[in-house]
Amino acid sequence: MKYSPSLFVAALVASVSASNVLELDTSNWDNFVGRGKPGLVQFTVQTSLCEGCKFIAPIFEKLADVFSNKKEDVFFGLVDTDDNMSFEEEYGFKSYPALLWFRGDGTAEPYEGGGDLESFVRFVTQKSDLEPPIKLPTPPQSRVLDYKDFDEVVMDPENDVLVSFTTPWCNHCKAIKGIWGKVTSIFEPESNCVVVNVDVEGRKNENLARRFNITAVPTIKFFSKDNKEGERFELELTESNFIDYLNEKCGTHRTSDGGLLDTAGRLADFDQLASKFLTASSGDQESIYQEALTLSSTIDDPSKSMQYLRIMENIANGTEGYHEKESKRLEGILSKREVARAKLDEIKIKSNILRAFGAPTEEEEDNNIQRDTAEL
Ligand SMILES: *[C@@H]1O[C@H](CO)[C@@H](O)[C@H](O)[C@H]1NC(C)=O
Ligand SMILES: *[C@@H]1O[C@H](CO)[C@@H](O)[C@H](O)[C@H]1NC(C)=O
Ligand SMILES: *[C@@H]1O[C@H](CO)[C@@H](O)[C@H](O)[C@H]1NC(C)=O
Repeated sequence: MKYSPSLFVAALVASVSASNVLELDTSNWDNFVGRGKPGLVQFTVQTSLCEGCKFIAPIFEKLADVFSNKKEDVFFGLVDTDDNMSFEEEYGFKSYPALLWFRGDGTAEPYEGGGDLESFVRFVTQKSDLEPPIKLPTPPQSRVLDYKDFDEVVMDPENDVLVSFTTPWCNHCKAIKGIWGKVTSIFEPESNCVVVNVDVEGRKNENLARRFNITAVPTIKFFSKDNKEGERFELELTESNFIDYLNEKCGTHRTSDGGLLDTAGRLADFDQLASKFLTASSGDQESIYQEALTLSSTIDDPSKSMQYLRIMENIANGTEGYHEKESKRLEGILSKREVARAKLDEIKIKSNILRAFGAPTEEEEDNNIQRDTAEL
């Protein structure tokens, strides 16, 4: 996965505290808007009820920072509509924050993209024909279901499914659009831990809203394999909350960069056997191996323990120094990340399991040599 949020962090650390957002009102409006230079204008209200305004404000500041060396080509403006209602009358805003893109001639169109920085950057770049000021990854897409295929995916007893119920125009829904796409893509390799979106505004999808008691948007619900009533997701709608929640509920081990955690693939009972194996005498290795074989036949999915058995076989009967060489080889592949994602997952799991075998300390190695010598 090529997604790299660190790129943004790097681009932003350099920015200084002075704002690159113009404060616009009726007195200076005509000096900036419709004067040939296009720009994105955010209309806000100061009321504490506008959660979306609070959410967007820092992102909008960062956006203006990202384009701070393109001031000749594009501007970013902020209008406090409380001070002057004529804007609301002129543009007919129904909710706040409202974001309008003004072309050079002063005509406007609403911004309807995601509320994350990348979506904004992509939009402004596309509209203003600029070279992107920073390199952009392709945006991950949400998987969208409707009344026709909802049951097939969500009610499937094999699937754990996280569903966002949204409408196209709600500001909070727009704000999480980018995050949702990213979480969808992070969990894509997990065939039974599925992330989907449903637009409940469409007339035919309204029945879904009624069926699941969706009275506000966005509403996020989790439909586990054995609870198809759905459980409401009550945490703050952040990327890391979604990832942690899904890992816990689905038993997955995904990281925000789309890879796997160090815990992926590990089985506690086998870890215990593995930790003794590397330094055991060959006789002891044989009995640990037999124990692992027996244990393997008792677990639900024996394929999960295969890797432990293969590694034992290789350590006992494979080439000299197998554990150390294989660990290094896999770490090399993982650090370059040049292979396909499914292959990377496989390698990460094997590398995690190799770690369960641990590298012997020098002292253990000495004991081993003494014991081997004694056995001769
Ligand atoms: C609101 O806009 C009108 C028309 O442009 C202007 O006359 C008035 O001074 C503005 N009021 C404030 C508070 O900016
Ligand atoms: C529907 O949701 C509302 C608000 O969350 C709640 O008060 C009500 O009990 C729910 N009804 C059902 C049938 O789940
Ligand atoms: C190593 O090879 C011997 C002889 O083929 C076999 O009996 C033994 O089970 C193997 N040990 C492991 C751990 O694979």
